[in-house]
Amino acid sequence: MNGRFKPRQYYLWNIGCQMNRADAYRLSEELEKRGYKPTSRPEAADLIVLNTCVVRQSAEDRVVGRLSSLSSLKRRGQERALLVMGCFVDDIPALEARYPYVDAFFKPSDIAGLLQFVEHWEAKQGECASSGQLLKAPQVSELVPISYGCDHRCTYCIVALRRGRQRSRPIAEIVAEVSRLVERGAREITLLGQNVDAYGSDLPDHPTLADVLRAIHDLEGLWRIRFLTSHPKDMAQEIIETAAMLPKVCECWELPVQSGDNTILRRMARGYTVEHFRALVGRIRERIPYAAIHTDIIVGFPGETEEQFQNTLRLVQEMRFDVVHVAAYSPRPGTAASAWEDDVPPEEKERRRELIERIQTQIAAEINATFLGQEVEVLVDGKQRGRWRGRTRTDKLVFFESPEDWLGHLARVRVTWTGPWSMLGTISSSTDYQRSR
Ligand code: SAH
Ligand code: F3S
Repeated sequence: MNGRFKPRQYYLWNIGCQMNRADAYRLSEELEKRGYKPTSRPEAADLIVLNTCVVRQSAEDRVVGRLSSLSSLKRRGQERALLVMGCFVDDIPALEARYPYVDAFFKPSDIAGLLQFVEHWEAKQGECASSGQLLKAPQVSELVPISYGCDHRCTYCIVALRRGRQRSRPIAEIVAEVSRLVERGAREITLLGQNVDAYGSDLPDHPTLADVLRAIHDLEGLWRIRFLTSHPKDMAQEIIETAAMLPKVCECWELPVQSGDNTILRRMARGYTVEHFRALVGRIRERIPYAAIHTDIIVGFPGETEEQFQNTLRLVQEMRFDVVHVAAYSPRPGTAASAWEDDVPPEEKERRRELIERIQTQIAAEINATFLGQEVEVLVDGKQRGRWRGRTRTDKLVFFESPEDWLGHLARVRVTWTGPWSMLGTISSSTDYQRSR
């Protein structure tokens, strides 16, 4: 008993994908329920949690850097706990030997394990954290995992190795969570999985993503539904049809192509060809004419020639994606591709990456310019530098000024300026639009 009545503080450092963001948010919620207060200063924290990513070497380097900078802090404050979760955590005994000052390691998304540790650690310290109330403001937009792990083994990918085989959550559990979040004020739900198109294949009655969409669609107070990430090999026509039919499902698809060259796609073990991808995008655009399509691309995969890279560049020009996340290939331990020579030099990978970024910036600017003068529907999720910030159903970022409180409302905004990454607008005359919902 140390006699403090000061609530315990936690510092949570999070990097990586949307799944990590969802985990981090859920974890902070649980810790705050147990009376913890967030702090942005690790030196002030009783509990330090790193939620980690190793998708590329650069991410892993950041984790290692963070761990070494925290080691002295940990030595000075023995009673403080340092916990590490996420894709950095693979071989736990090896990590324990390498980082003896870390109190415990947890596999990706193992929030339950981490909370159990916290409970034992608190008991050992002989002080009960007071039961606090939730301090977080209700979020307008929430992330809800529907499956963990992935059964594919793309040859470059460490995520599937670290996160393990696919485990889908039963529909009833997903509906219960979404209902709870909507009751608390969420208006938009993003369903998450490494491959949402394969959702349910590991469950007894094989439900599909389309079933999940239908199951949550009619919840009152829920306005928008998104899902990611899709896989071009596994996306069934049923999902396109269901998304097209259900009005709350947003017209936005996260559909990573990775390469525009069939030989590279085969060596990545993606399971589809460029022709298949092109036809799939065609089917989406036929059913949902204004659909936004986001993609991921890796440049400089082992053996990628200039010609193969040009095929990817041409696909980017042809498809006119709304967003392209482009990354230089980074060999990852344990993956099939890590055994192959990483033969595209770093400067060349960087040249290829920049070329795609430059062309895509131009395309995104052109697409966004078509919104100029149009009225768009924006779900307002926050304020940034004095302006309200929100997104359209196609995930375009829109800012506008207004003295009224727009948080959590749908605003009709007339677009007055566009750039490649965002737009500006003014509230259009029908300002009571949100009350009609
Ligand atoms: N299944 C998820 C997560 C994959 S990792 C999804 O499809 O989004 C997220 C992205 O990181 C991938 O789409 C890929 O473009 C990129 N990525 C994965 N491994 C990589 C590697 N070894 N080098 C460079 N980029 C990689
Ligand atoms: Fe990774 Fe491919 Fe799955 S990118 S997470 S193995 S679909």
